[in-house]
Amino acid sequence: MIAQNMNRLLVSSAVLTMLTSLAIAQVQKDVPFVPTPQPVVEEMLRLAEPKEGEILYDLGCGDGRIVITAAKKYNVKGIGVDIDPQRIKESNENATKAGVTDRVKFLEKNLFEMDFSDADVLCMYLLPSVNAKLKPKILADMKPGARVVSHAFDLGDWKPDKTVPVKESNNRTVYFWIVPAQVEGTSDVTLKTPQGEQKATLNLKQNYQHVAGTAKIGAKELQIKDGKLAGDRLTFSADGETYTCQLPVKTRKSKAA
Ligand SMILES: C[S@@+](CC[C@H](N)C(=O)[O-])C[C@H]1O[C@@H](n2cnc3c(N)ncnc32)[C@H](O)[C@@H]1O
Repeated sequence: MIAQNMNRLLVSSAVLTMLTSLAIAQVQKDVPFVPTPQPVVEEMLRLAEPKEGEILYDLGCGDGRIVITAAKKYNVKGIGVDIDPQRIKESNENATKAGVTDRVKFLEKNLFEMDFSDADVLCMYLLPSVNAKLKPKILADMKPGARVVSHAFDLGDWKPDKTVPVKESNNRTVYFWIVPAQVEGTSDVTLKTPQGEQKATLNLKQNYQHVAGTAKIGAKELQIKDGKLAGDRLTFSADGETYTCQLPVKTRKSKAA
């Protein structure tokens, strides 16, 4: 009887072990775990300039180092997302060691199912194909003016605002973008010039953060040159003068995940 019970126990524990390893093996990662070296983490955060109380995400957070460093050094609210339960366990342990558990949250989740529309800063160390899939969601869902930093991989034809090599880490590259507002079309604005303010109607064509078109000021129509957005703030030159203005933000939110 005792031997029979022991046998049952052994069989059930073997089945449990098999099921557990099967579950671990079934974690479908889009990117392997390769941690970002600390000097690169520091550079990503330096470029993103997180402010106290802002919300920072790391999609595919690994052992949580970016989120934890940001919480510790910049006092942000950090959210790390990883599909691998082992990485989430490590992230939580590391957050406890760093004393930042009140400011960080680690979620076991597929990054493609994540709503990160409230992010002020988005961090990524993924792969070109994954970045390409995320790009439409970043542009559609994130707030104009939110910052995106990526270690090693860019966002294809959305050219970065800054590209910085990190000398201490073998010149690894960090890319930085500011999410541009959607400004295509006609907008009434107040232009700021060194001479003062002027009312104008802008007619804009947009390619990510780059803008071309015309500015109608009274009876004059100027061609916009070197138009560049930082969120909803446009700077351009026309007729040898530099102009800046705040553009009205069109509401946007993608339906697709
Ligand atoms: C290259 S590592 C980067 C880790 C960390 N962000 C860093 O820079 O140190 C990529 C991480 O993405 C996670 N990952 C891969 N596919 C994922 C997915 N579909 N959803 C969430 N996380 C994923 C992996 O488990 C891994 O931890």
